[in-house]
Amino acid sequence: MRHLLTLFELSPDEIHRVFAISKELKEKFQHGIREPILRGYSLALLFEKPSLRTRVSFEAAMTHLGGNALFLGADVGWGQRESAADFSLVLSQYVDTVVCRTTAHARIEELAKYCTVPVINGLTDAAHPCQALADLFTLDEIHGPLAGKRLAYIGDANNVARSLAVCCGKLGVELAIASPKQYSFDRAFLDRLAGEVPDVKLLQTEDPREAVRGAVGVYTDVWTSMGQEAEAAVRKEVLAAYQVNPSLMEHAPEGAVFLHCLPARRGEEVTDEVIDGHYSAVIIQAANRMHVQKGLLAWILNAID
Ligand code: CP
Ligand code: NVA
Repeated sequence: MRHLLTLFELSPDEIHRVFAISKELKEKFQHGIREPILRGYSLALLFEKPSLRTRVSFEAAMTHLGGNALFLGADVGWGQRESAADFSLVLSQYVDTVVCRTTAHARIEELAKYCTVPVINGLTDAAHPCQALADLFTLDEIHGPLAGKRLAYIGDANNVARSLAVCCGKLGVELAIASPKQYSFDRAFLDRLAGEVPDVKLLQTEDPREAVRGAVGVYTDVWTSMGQEAEAAVRKEVLAAYQVNPSLMEHAPEGAVFLHCLPARRGEEVTDEVIDGHYSAVIIQAANRMHVQKGLLAWILNAID
Protein backbone atom coordinates (compact mmCIF):
# COMPACT_ATOMS: atom_id res chain seq x y z
CA MET A 1 0.00 0.00 0.00
CA ARG A 2 1.44 3.36 -1.06
CA HIS A 3 0.52 6.95 -0.21
CA LEU A 4 1.28 9.87 -2.52
CA LEU A 5 1.94 12.89 -0.33
CA THR A 6 4.78 14.35 -2.41
CA LEU A 7 6.55 13.36 -5.61
CA PHE A 8 9.66 12.52 -3.60
CA GLU A 9 7.89 9.19 -3.03
CA LEU A 10 7.70 8.25 -6.74
CA SER A 11 10.66 6.92 -8.70
CA PRO A 12 11.26 8.10 -12.29
CA ASP A 13 10.12 4.66 -13.52
CA GLU A 14 6.92 4.95 -11.51
CA ILE A 15 6.20 8.40 -12.96
CA HIS A 16 6.74 7.01 -16.47
CA ARG A 17 4.45 4.10 -15.64
CA VAL A 18 1.69 6.44 -14.42
CA PHE A 19 2.12 8.48 -17.63
CA ALA A 20 1.89 5.38 -19.80
CA ILE A 21 -1.35 4.24 -18.12
CA SER A 22 -2.72 7.80 -18.33
CA LYS A 23 -1.93 8.00 -22.03
CA GLU A 24 -3.68 4.70 -22.71
CA LEU A 25 -6.77 5.68 -20.68
CA LYS A 26 -6.88 9.13 -22.30
CA GLU A 27 -6.76 7.67 -25.80
CA LYS A 28 -9.51 5.18 -24.96
CA PHE A 29 -11.65 7.91 -23.41
CA GLN A 30 -11.24 10.05 -26.51
CA HIS A 31 -12.49 7.12 -28.58
CA GLY A 32 -15.55 6.73 -26.37
CA ILE A 33 -14.18 3.76 -24.42
CA ARG A 34 -14.68 3.90 -20.65
CA GLU A 35 -13.44 0.59 -19.28
CA PRO A 36 -14.76 0.02 -15.73
CA ILE A 37 -11.38 -0.93 -14.28
CA LEU A 38 -12.38 0.53 -10.89
CA ARG A 39 -15.86 -0.98 -10.74
CA GLY A 40 -16.95 -1.20 -7.13
CA TYR A 41 -14.14 1.07 -5.87
CA SER A 42 -14.84 4.13 -3.72
CA LEU A 43 -12.78 7.28 -3.38
CA ALA A 44 -13.24 9.86 -0.61
CA LEU A 45 -12.37 13.49 -1.31
CA LEU A 46 -11.58 15.11 2.03
CA PHE A 47 -11.28 18.83 1.27
CA GLU A 48 -10.62 21.78 3.57
CA LYS A 49 -10.03 24.32 0.79
CA PRO A 50 -12.03 25.23 -2.34
CA SER A 51 -11.46 23.40 -5.62
CA LEU A 52 -12.87 23.10 -9.12
CA ARG A 53 -10.29 21.08 -11.05
CA THR A 54 -9.04 18.66 -8.41
CA ARG A 55 -12.46 17.82 -7.03
CA VAL A 56 -14.35 17.50 -10.31
CA SER A 57 -11.56 15.73 -12.20
CA PHE A 58 -11.28 13.07 -9.49
CA GLU A 59 -15.06 12.68 -9.25
CA ALA A 60 -15.44 12.38 -13.04
CA ALA A 61 -12.43 10.05 -13.26
CA MET A 62 -14.00 7.65 -10.78
CA THR A 63 -17.33 7.67 -12.66
CA HIS A 64 -15.61 7.03 -16.00
CA LEU A 65 -13.68 4.11 -14.49
CA GLY A 66 -16.81 2.54 -12.98
CA GLY A 67 -16.24 3.56 -9.34
CA ASN A 68 -17.68 6.32 -7.20
CA ALA A 69 -16.43 9.36 -5.30
CA LEU A 70 -17.69 10.83 -2.06
CA PHE A 71 -17.04 14.49 -1.32
CA LEU A 72 -16.38 15.09 2.39
CA GLY A 73 -16.53 18.67 3.59
CA ALA A 74 -16.34 20.22 7.04
CA ASP A 75 -19.34 18.29 8.38
CA VAL A 76 -17.35 15.04 8.76
CA GLY A 77 -15.45 16.81 11.52
CA TRP A 78 -11.89 15.76 10.69
CA GLY A 79 -9.77 16.90 13.64
CA GLN A 80 -12.90 18.06 15.47
CA ARG A 81 -15.20 15.19 16.40
CA GLU A 82 -12.75 12.38 17.23
CA SER A 83 -9.08 11.50 17.34
CA ALA A 84 -7.03 11.56 14.12
CA ALA A 85 -6.43 7.82 14.43
CA ASP A 86 -10.10 6.94 14.88
CA PHE A 87 -11.03 9.15 11.92
CA SER A 88 -8.45 7.62 9.58
CA LEU A 89 -9.07 4.04 10.62
CA VAL A 90 -12.84 4.33 10.25
CA LEU A 91 -12.64 6.12 6.88
CA SER A 92 -10.32 3.35 5.67
CA GLN A 93 -13.06 0.76 6.35
CA TYR A 94 -15.39 2.38 3.80
CA VAL A 95 -13.29 3.60 0.88
CA ASP A 96 -10.38 2.29 -1.17
CA THR A 97 -8.44 5.54 -1.34
CA VAL A 98 -8.59 9.11 -0.01
CA VAL A 99 -7.69 12.34 -1.80
CA CYS A 100 -7.08 15.10 0.72
CA ARG A 101 -6.76 18.87 0.24
CA THR A 102 -5.71 20.70 3.36
CA THR A 103 -3.53 23.45 4.83
CA ALA A 104 -0.38 22.39 6.71
CA HIS A 105 1.39 19.38 5.18
CA ALA A 106 1.62 17.84 8.67
CA ARG A 107 -2.16 17.38 8.57
CA ILE A 108 -2.06 15.07 5.56
CA GLU A 109 0.94 13.24 7.06
CA GLU A 110 -1.11 12.58 10.17
CA LEU A 111 -4.06 11.37 8.07
CA ALA A 112 -1.78 9.04 6.10
CA LYS A 113 -0.09 7.75 9.25
CA TYR A 114 -3.30 6.07 10.39
CA CYS A 115 -5.07 5.39 7.07
CA THR A 116 -4.84 1.79 5.88
CA VAL A 117 -5.74 2.79 2.29
CA PRO A 118 -3.68 5.04 -0.02
CA VAL A 119 -3.85 8.76 0.72
CA ILE A 120 -3.26 11.07 -2.26
CA ASN A 121 -2.35 14.71 -1.77
CA GLY A 122 -4.86 16.96 -3.56
CA LEU A 123 -2.88 20.06 -2.44
CA THR A 124 -1.30 21.19 0.80
CA ASP A 125 0.65 24.34 1.60
CA ALA A 126 3.81 22.38 0.74
CA ALA A 127 2.96 20.38 -2.37
CA HIS A 128 0.56 19.71 -5.24
CA PRO A 129 1.82 16.45 -6.74
CA CYS A 130 -1.24 15.63 -8.92
CA GLN A 131 -0.86 19.03 -10.55
CA ALA A 132 2.82 18.58 -11.38
CA LEU A 133 2.20 15.11 -12.82
CA ALA A 134 -0.46 16.53 -15.17
CA ASP A 135 1.82 19.46 -16.05
CA LEU A 136 4.78 17.31 -17.08
CA PHE A 137 2.45 14.89 -18.89
CA THR A 138 1.06 17.88 -20.85
CA LEU A 139 4.50 19.22 -21.66
CA ASP A 140 5.56 15.76 -22.77
CA GLU A 141 2.57 15.53 -25.14
CA ILE A 142 3.57 18.83 -26.74
CA HIS A 143 7.36 18.87 -26.49
CA GLY A 144 8.38 15.33 -25.55
CA PRO A 145 10.71 13.59 -25.00
CA LEU A 146 11.45 16.01 -22.19
CA ALA A 147 14.81 14.92 -20.76
CA GLY A 148 17.37 17.69 -21.19
CA LYS A 149 14.76 20.39 -21.88
CA ARG A 150 13.98 23.45 -19.76
CA LEU A 151 10.74 24.48 -18.05
CA ALA A 152 10.63 28.07 -16.75
CA TYR A 153 8.59 28.95 -13.67
CA ILE A 154 8.01 32.62 -12.94
CA GLY A 155 6.78 33.99 -9.58
CA ASP A 156 6.10 32.61 -6.14
CA ALA A 157 8.05 29.43 -5.29
CA ASN A 158 4.95 27.86 -3.76
CA ASN A 159 3.41 24.39 -3.41
CA VAL A 160 2.97 24.02 -7.19
CA ALA A 161 6.56 25.14 -7.87
CA ARG A 162 7.94 22.68 -5.31
CA SER A 163 6.13 19.74 -6.87
CA LEU A 164 7.26 20.87 -10.32
CA ALA A 165 10.86 21.02 -9.13
CA VAL A 166 10.70 17.44 -7.84
CA CYS A 167 8.91 16.12 -10.94
CA CYS A 168 11.29 17.91 -13.30
CA GLY A 169 14.29 16.62 -11.35
CA LYS A 170 13.03 13.03 -11.55
CA LEU A 171 12.36 13.30 -15.30
CA GLY A 172 15.65 14.99 -16.22
CA VAL A 173 13.99 18.32 -17.04
CA GLU A 174 15.76 21.51 -16.00
CA LEU A 175 13.57 23.84 -13.93
CA ALA A 176 14.56 27.50 -14.26
CA ILE A 177 12.75 29.43 -11.56
CA ALA A 178 12.64 33.21 -11.40
CA SER A 179 11.42 34.59 -8.05
CA PRO A 180 12.22 37.50 -5.78
CA LYS A 181 14.48 36.39 -2.93
CA GLN A 182 11.78 36.45 -0.24
CA TYR A 183 9.51 34.18 -2.32
CA SER A 184 12.13 31.71 -3.50
CA PHE A 185 12.57 28.08 -2.34
CA ASP A 186 13.48 27.72 1.35
CA ARG A 187 16.71 26.06 2.42
CA ALA A 188 15.01 22.96 3.91
CA PHE A 189 13.27 22.20 0.60
CA LEU A 190 16.45 22.78 -1.41
CA ASP A 191 18.42 20.47 0.86
CA ARG A 192 15.82 17.73 0.55
CA LEU A 193 15.69 18.18 -3.22
CA ALA A 194 19.47 17.93 -3.56
CA GLY A 195 19.59 14.95 -1.19
CA GLU A 196 16.76 12.91 -2.71
CA VAL A 197 17.03 13.96 -6.37
CA PRO A 198 20.81 14.29 -6.80
CA ASP A 199 20.62 14.75 -10.59
CA VAL A 200 18.24 17.69 -10.29
CA LYS A 201 18.99 20.61 -12.60
CA LEU A 202 17.64 23.76 -10.98
CA LEU A 203 18.44 27.30 -12.07
CA GLN A 204 17.37 29.91 -9.54
CA THR A 205 17.39 33.51 -10.64
CA GLU A 206 15.69 36.82 -9.91
CA ASP A 207 15.49 37.57 -13.65
CA PRO A 208 12.41 36.18 -15.48
CA ARG A 209 14.08 36.77 -18.87
CA GLU A 210 16.99 34.55 -17.93
CA ALA A 211 14.58 31.80 -16.83
CA VAL A 212 12.49 31.74 -20.04
CA ARG A 213 15.53 31.68 -22.33
CA GLY A 214 15.59 28.32 -24.11
CA ALA A 215 12.51 27.04 -22.25
CA VAL A 216 9.90 24.82 -23.92
CA GLY A 217 7.30 25.94 -21.37
CA VAL A 218 6.69 29.09 -19.30
CA TYR A 219 4.69 28.42 -16.13
CA THR A 220 3.25 30.67 -13.50
CA ASP A 221 0.82 30.48 -10.58
CA VAL A 222 -0.99 32.99 -8.39
CA TRP A 223 1.07 35.31 -6.23
CA THR A 224 -1.22 34.72 -3.23
CA SER A 225 -2.11 31.10 -2.58
CA MET A 226 -5.11 29.92 -0.57
CA GLY A 227 -4.51 30.79 3.07
CA GLN A 228 -2.12 33.69 2.34
CA GLU A 229 -4.82 36.31 1.74
CA ALA A 230 -3.54 38.57 4.54
CA GLU A 231 -0.26 38.99 2.61
CA ALA A 232 -1.93 39.78 -0.73
CA ALA A 233 -1.01 43.50 -0.90
CA VAL A 234 2.68 42.93 -0.12
CA ARG A 235 2.93 40.00 -2.50
CA LYS A 236 1.34 42.01 -5.30
CA GLU A 237 3.95 44.71 -4.86
CA VAL A 238 6.99 42.43 -4.53
CA LEU A 239 5.96 40.10 -7.36
CA ALA A 240 4.87 42.85 -9.80
CA ALA A 241 8.03 42.42 -11.88
CA TYR A 242 7.24 38.70 -12.29
CA GLN A 243 4.16 39.04 -14.49
CA VAL A 244 4.05 36.76 -17.53
CA ASN A 245 3.10 39.14 -20.34
CA PRO A 246 3.77 39.29 -24.09
CA SER A 247 7.04 41.14 -23.60
CA LEU A 248 8.37 38.33 -21.37
CA MET A 249 7.09 35.66 -23.78
CA GLU A 250 9.15 37.32 -26.54
CA HIS A 251 12.25 36.13 -24.70
CA ALA A 252 11.08 32.51 -24.84
CA PRO A 253 11.80 30.47 -27.97
CA GLU A 254 9.27 30.05 -30.76
CA GLY A 255 6.99 27.16 -29.86
CA ALA A 256 7.26 27.57 -26.08
CA VAL A 257 3.89 27.00 -24.42
CA PHE A 258 2.33 28.94 -21.57
CA LEU A 259 1.20 26.86 -18.57
CA HIS A 260 -0.78 27.74 -15.44
CA CYS A 261 -2.35 25.37 -12.91
CA LEU A 262 -5.41 27.66 -12.66
CA PRO A 263 -7.32 29.38 -11.21
CA ALA A 264 -5.51 32.47 -12.57
CA ARG A 265 -5.65 36.05 -11.35
CA ARG A 266 -5.68 37.70 -14.76
CA GLY A 267 -3.89 41.04 -14.72
CA GLU A 268 -1.63 39.91 -11.85
CA GLU A 269 0.68 36.96 -12.56
CA VAL A 270 -0.49 36.69 -16.19
CA THR A 271 -2.13 38.97 -18.73
CA ASP A 272 -5.14 38.12 -20.90
CA GLU A 273 -2.97 38.25 -24.06
CA VAL A 274 -0.79 35.43 -22.74
CA ILE A 275 -3.36 33.16 -21.11
CA ASP A 276 -5.66 33.51 -24.15
CA GLY A 277 -2.75 33.53 -26.62
CA HIS A 278 -1.95 30.97 -29.30
CA TYR A 279 0.81 29.53 -27.10
CA SER A 280 -1.44 28.93 -24.09
CA ALA A 281 -1.96 25.26 -23.17
CA VAL A 282 -3.89 25.88 -19.94
CA ILE A 283 -7.13 24.16 -20.98
CA ILE A 284 -5.34 21.04 -22.26
CA GLN A 285 -3.36 21.10 -19.00
CA ALA A 286 -6.57 21.30 -16.92
CA ALA A 287 -8.13 18.47 -18.97
CA ASN A 288 -5.05 16.35 -18.32
CA ARG A 289 -5.60 16.60 -14.57
CA MET A 290 -8.40 14.08 -15.07
CA HIS A 291 -6.53 11.80 -17.45
CA VAL A 292 -3.41 11.65 -15.29
CA GLN A 293 -5.40 11.10 -12.11
CA LYS A 294 -7.05 8.13 -13.82
CA GLY A 295 -3.58 6.75 -14.46
CA LEU A 296 -2.55 7.47 -10.89
CA LEU A 297 -5.66 5.80 -9.43
CA ALA A 298 -5.25 2.73 -11.64
CA TRP A 299 -1.59 2.50 -10.62
CA ILE A 300 -2.01 3.11 -6.89
CA LEU A 301 -4.96 0.69 -6.69
CA ASN A 302 -3.16 -1.93 -8.81
CA ALA A 303 -6.08 -2.00 -11.24
CA ILE A 304 -3.95 -2.53 -14.36
CA ASP A 305 -1.52 -5.41 -15.09
N1 CP B 1 -5.24 23.57 -10.17
C1 CP B 1 -6.07 23.19 -9.19
O1 CP B 1 -5.73 22.40 -8.31
O2 CP B 1 -7.30 23.76 -9.26
P1 CP B 1 -8.43 23.67 -8.15
O3 CP B 1 -7.97 24.50 -6.98
O4 CP B 1 -9.67 24.24 -8.80
O5 CP B 1 -8.60 22.23 -7.76
N1 NVA C 1 -0.72 27.84 -5.27
C1 NVA C 1 -2.16 27.76 -5.37
C2 NVA C 1 -2.55 26.64 -6.24
C3 NVA C 1 -4.03 26.50 -6.48
C4 NVA C 1 -4.36 25.33 -7.36
C5 NVA C 1 -2.76 27.64 -3.99
O1 NVA C 1 -2.22 26.89 -3.16
O2 NVA C 1 -3.76 28.30 -3.71
